[in-house]
Amino acid sequence: MDIFVKEHKVFDLINNNYHLLPVINRFGVNLGNKDKTLNEICKINDINIDFFLAIVNTYNNKDYFPEKELKSFSPLMIVKYLKKTHTYYTNYMLPKLEKLLHKLIESDSSDSNQLIVIEQFYFKYKSELLLHIKEEEEKVFPLVEKMVNNKTYDAGFNIHSYEKEHSDVDSKINDLKNLIIKYIEPTYDENICYEFLVTLFRFEKDINDHARIEDNILIPQLLEIERAQNE
Ligand SMILES: [Fe+2]
Ligand SMILES: [Fe+2]
Repeated sequence: MDIFVKEHKVFDLINNNYHLLPVINRFGVNLGNKDKTLNEICKINDINIDFFLAIVNTYNNKDYFPEKELKSFSPLMIVKYLKKTHTYYTNYMLPKLEKLLHKLIESDSSDSNQLIVIEQFYFKYKSELLLHIKEEEEKVFPLVEKMVNNKTYDAGFNIHSYEKEHSDVDSKINDLKNLIIKYIEPTYDENICYEFLVTLFRFEKDINDHARIEDNILIPQLLEIERAQNE
């Protein structure tokens, strides 16, 4: 299924793409919804259906661009959603990755320090990611709030450098995967390593989709504020 519409059932969505489980969870949508449709579940949880569809479809389909929906919800809704995603990364995904990495290092039977190098690389990536998140929370999001409230575009916000930053953070996680898949001697417990890798793949996907929401939904909305202001 390429695009979800409001008539689809919650089950269809999860069955088609289980990566969306944490995505809908951030909206407060849990399991146990019987045969309810997306429209019904949004009404029950007081969620703007256009906003919900824009987010799940952007996650689900790389080529999707929510042109029609963009005007029907506020950038503040996206900011609130993005903050929840950041919390999911810092409170759940990163600790989970670290626990697995620790287990992996403990399982290594060799004397080499190859996994220590991986660990150092991971912590470098983590600190860059946390810095990126911090800048969004402390600089970008407050600016968005200001723009939405004053209806003026802030010249201090450089959209192009903001977009570039995403690709920089993305490439680091890819390097980490490459190191493990290509170069590390498998003297560790392989099942733990596979689990670590699968978690890393999932995390990479989530974080890329998250950046796409920032680039394809939030930024166009800010450009729209700029356009309206210049009219
Ligand atoms: Fe973010
Ligand atoms: Fe970001």
